[in-house]
Amino acid sequence: MCGIFAYLNYQVPRTRKEILETLVKGLQRLEYRGYDSAGVAVDGPKNNKDNNNNSITLIKKRGKVKNLDEELYKKDSDLDLDAVLGTHFGLAHTRWATHGEPSAVNCHPHRSDKDNEFVVVHNGIITNYKELKKYLNSKGYEFESETDTEVIPKLTKYVYDNRERDTISFSTLVERVIQQLEGAFALVFKSRHFPGEAVATRRGSPLLIGVRSESELSAEHIPIQYNSAPYYSVLRDHPGTPQGAEGLMGPTEPTALFKEGVQEKNIHNRPDAVGGGKAVEYYFASDASAIIEHTNKVLYMEDDDVAIVTNGKLSIHRLNRQAGEDPVRLIKTLQMELQQIMKGNFEAFMQKEIFEQPESVVNTMRGRIVFDTDTVVLGGLKDHLKEIKRCRRLIMIGCGTSFHAAVATRQILEELTELPVMVELASDFLDRNTPVFRDDVCFFISQSGETADTLMALRYCKERGALTVGITNTVGSSISRDTDCGVHINAGPEIGVASTKAYTSQFVSLVMFGLMVSEDRVSLQKRRGEIIQGLKDLPELIKKVLALDNKIKAIADELYEQRSLLVMGRGFNYATCLEGALKIKEITYMHSEGILAGELKHGPLALIDKHMPVIMIIMRDACYQKCQNALEQVTARSGRPIILCCQDDVEITKNAYKTIELPHTVDCLQGILSVIPLQLMSFHLAVLRGYDVDCPRNLAKSVTVE
Ligand code: G6P
Repeated sequence: MCGIFAYLNYQVPRTRKEILETLVKGLQRLEYRGYDSAGVAVDGPKNNKDNNNNSITLIKKRGKVKNLDEELYKKDSDLDLDAVLGTHFGLAHTRWATHGEPSAVNCHPHRSDKDNEFVVVHNGIITNYKELKKYLNSKGYEFESETDTEVIPKLTKYVYDNRERDTISFSTLVERVIQQLEGAFALVFKSRHFPGEAVATRRGSPLLIGVRSESELSAEHIPIQYNSAPYYSVLRDHPGTPQGAEGLMGPTEPTALFKEGVQEKNIHNRPDAVGGGKAVEYYFASDASAIIEHTNKVLYMEDDDVAIVTNGKLSIHRLNRQAGEDPVRLIKTLQMELQQIMKGNFEAFMQKEIFEQPESVVNTMRGRIVFDTDTVVLGGLKDHLKEIKRCRRLIMIGCGTSFHAAVATRQILEELTELPVMVELASDFLDRNTPVFRDDVCFFISQSGETADTLMALRYCKERGALTVGITNTVGSSISRDTDCGVHINAGPEIGVASTKAYTSQFVSLVMFGLMVSEDRVSLQKRRGEIIQGLKDLPELIKKVLALDNKIKAIADELYEQRSLLVMGRGFNYATCLEGALKIKEITYMHSEGILAGELKHGPLALIDKHMPVIMIIMRDACYQKCQNALEQVTARSGRPIILCCQDDVEITKNAYKTIELPHTVDCLQGILSVIPLQLMSFHLAVLRGYDVDCPRNLAKSVTVE
């Protein structure tokens, strides 16, 4: 998905080369999100004819950030890379195509005109771009790309060209522009009319600002400056225009705050802006991994915040204060370490993340389970426990791997909570307009906390009065903020597009939820005790599974030229089949299907012959006998199954073409161990097939569009 990175150095001299290196590095940190083109905007070199030309240079390239980087050096002579810039603001972006094919012209930053008066980077989708484009076209503004984004810089120029007075502040311009936009966006603006200034804003897409300064920050809390301005509309008959609002250029009677000068005084002389006019650097990014190597001081922007940096000072503006709204933004200290997001000695982030699982599951449980007393306390849920226990139904909603975590834990949650549990793919849940009631508890499971479908399902359930619970890996994400309560799974940053450690941590979190809810059920104490012991032993058992890596690689060596791979199982291990098949599809581009073994004779059996590779999961649990029947049906059709089974299962080994023997744990946790060989298998298959494991084609880490 798209990534934003922007860098402002104020009275911190940097060569243009250093600035470009910082921008490219920022984009590299966002590469994991998936993208197809990349671009930057920096101040152009001053030319001799006009020393104050404040030109902006755009460089955009289809393909990898590496291609863009090479292009920058080709431009060496034009760009004057050694020039030292005391104060400068640069933008960078990785684009994942939604409107218009991947190409340099569709890539960001987008511009207002051939002179690059305003340039913008954007994450998200502008849903009313067609109306805006038509309007701007009618005013003579020419478009060059097929994107929705391009209306934003054009509209900015339009508002600027039609300002009532000679001067208008950059933030006022942006405030007026975003009043016209519908949809989701995180935006950062740069303009040749406002050299050295930055404006950023968001609605529905994440954006944060990192601050680095040698001197103490002048404020840790930034009070919001409210501008009680009237509604401003560009489109006269636009459906969003409130009755009686003026068309075209908005308020005929600009309020005092819109009048030149007044607002500027308010902003720039306030002691509570951050920066205080001293040497300072700002980093704007759509996620923290691009910022953390520069600073751990960050401010998370809220929807409709407009952040502006002028003369090195950062301040936050909003239009009208709503009841209950927090009037300050905090500068927080990020706990993430750079090395947490570096690859280390591994070939790929995904591989590193698979091998981190003995620690990541511990981090998920840390401070939450007291093993001596069999107690589980999830701090983010405890205040809502009564309400949860009274509910009529649990609904677990997610997409992709996060949905599989719901499937994996459904059975144990039904058992421990004694409630009906529905598992739902967010998109399908919305398509069906599923009935939701006030006494439902709805879980939103999402690694990123930003997945558009899951977020929309959250809004849908909130509107219907259900209690909403977030299960996310990203502190400060939209889902973690918009839910009533929740659990941070604390798996650490996950960079590989194919989710691995987040899955096992989501799994553990949901099991812990079941344990917490069932604490006072006498009849369940023995079962709870076994599960809690199983969780305690889990890290050691995961290490044993990881030690099978060479064996798994050897099997991958045999399979990698196949076109298809079936994964079969049932009961507690059905989710492993779905998740294993998804991993294989995502990164090896082989066809793979997770099959419920109970459905074998209702169709999939037709696929079985000696050529079709089949992986079967047969663990010693309540479904053991039924799985053995499925195995016989497969071998009777000359199938040659590779079987994931428990250690020393002689019976199974006799009928297997190959086995991967796993340590045994309590049935409801076995899926955590059985998914790991499939994570490793998909990794090796992808490497053998020569594919980029961390950035599979056509996929994105965080899907922030519907
Ligand atoms: C994308 C990713 C998947 C992920 C899914 C849900 O499709 O490629 O790996 O499982 O989104 O993401 P979430 O962040 O909501 O867990």
